[in-house]
Amino acid sequence: MLKKTLSKHKKTSLRKHKHKNKKRRSRKKSKHNTKRKKTETPIKILFVTTIMTDKAIKEKEGEYIDFSYYTKHPKAFGLCSEDVDVYITEPNSSIPNGWRFGYKHEIKSTDQLLLKFRKNVISKKFTDKALKAFRKQSKVLHDNRGASGGLLDSNKLPNYVAKHVSPGRFRTKFIRKSDNQKSQTLTSNLAPSNIVGFYDKPDRNFVDSPPCRLTAFTRDHPSLWKDSLPFIKRCDRLFKKLIPKRYKKQKNKADKINTFRIDDTAFTTLTINYSWRTGCHKDSGDLDEGFGNLVVIEDDDNPHSYEGCYLGFPQYGVCVDVRQGDFLAMNVHEWHCNTEFIDLGGDTSNIKPNILKNKWYFNRLSLVLYLRKKMLRCKGLKTNKKTPSMSRLKLKQSRSK
Ligand SMILES: [Fe+2]
Repeated sequence: MLKKTLSKHKKTSLRKHKHKNKKRRSRKKSKHNTKRKKTETPIKILFVTTIMTDKAIKEKEGEYIDFSYYTKHPKAFGLCSEDVDVYITEPNSSIPNGWRFGYKHEIKSTDQLLLKFRKNVISKKFTDKALKAFRKQSKVLHDNRGASGGLLDSNKLPNYVAKHVSPGRFRTKFIRKSDNQKSQTLTSNLAPSNIVGFYDKPDRNFVDSPPCRLTAFTRDHPSLWKDSLPFIKRCDRLFKKLIPKRYKKQKNKADKINTFRIDDTAFTTLTINYSWRTGCHKDSGDLDEGFGNLVVIEDDDNPHSYEGCYLGFPQYGVCVDVRQGDFLAMNVHEWHCNTEFIDLGGDTSNIKPNILKNKWYFNRLSLVLYLRKKMLRCKGLKTNKKTPSMSRLKLKQSRSK
């Protein structure tokens, strides 16, 4: 009986002790939270106005715009290299010089969010996996990047082109080297830029390709793709946290697409680029009411580090220095382009002449995550993972027999 009482007493005192500890921990936790909240620096709010007319910026489509533009233009803000939210506001007397810093409560319903930039928010454990998965694929050259690939440049045109035919600014028909015939399709500058995840156009190499499909990379490298998913999910969480309203709209669409989006995220597709400077362009093909998400990963295995290649919005005089592990949520439907790369030195004697000439050798892997709007046409389609069987080449060969 005594034993029982003692043990009962012991149990009660243990419970009281546990309760006290819990209370102490929770007091400590709330004290810690308050302390953290007090020391957190508020994010800077930058208001910008247009410093170039729509007509003037349209005329710059495909052109490269150097950093000097952002430093010399009297109304340009210049470079953002720390956390900031940038809003486009109507030109008025409170913002005579093209930009000003302000406060959250000053944001008007008519102001448009241009970008939100956060430094060092994606840890290396995520970026390392993405780098390993995408390094090789991001270097593959493609000829369909239009204005973002820059104005037509003979150094950058594909090998199969013998001669331009009635060229535009950044696209041209051409005479083929192989048969000296005029092409039916257009080409543009080559660019180390690729698409992974899902795509909303049939694979032109196959007759029976479904209208929405896995990209060749995601279909053919399932384990690399799987390894990159924690990185993509991290970006999804940052998008949700930073731009909740836009995220919700995009996520609702993604949920409808379901089988054609990446895991449980708001993204269907990633564009991955290696050491690529873009010409002045607006993105197309992504959801109008969504938002673009840009991340940079610096390749440890590549000794060619750089400065520059800032992502700029010339019409608003602002550019951003996005580096390893940073996250930039941006309105990709505004004109944007990169400034020049600045080489920090190092031996370039082993780099192929074409790669060297076009500056495709810097250790900058950039990734844009988004939702392709035409993917919505394919909701309910069950053939997304189907590998097409009849290639155009095989069909041609069988017909000529
Ligand atoms: Fe873009």
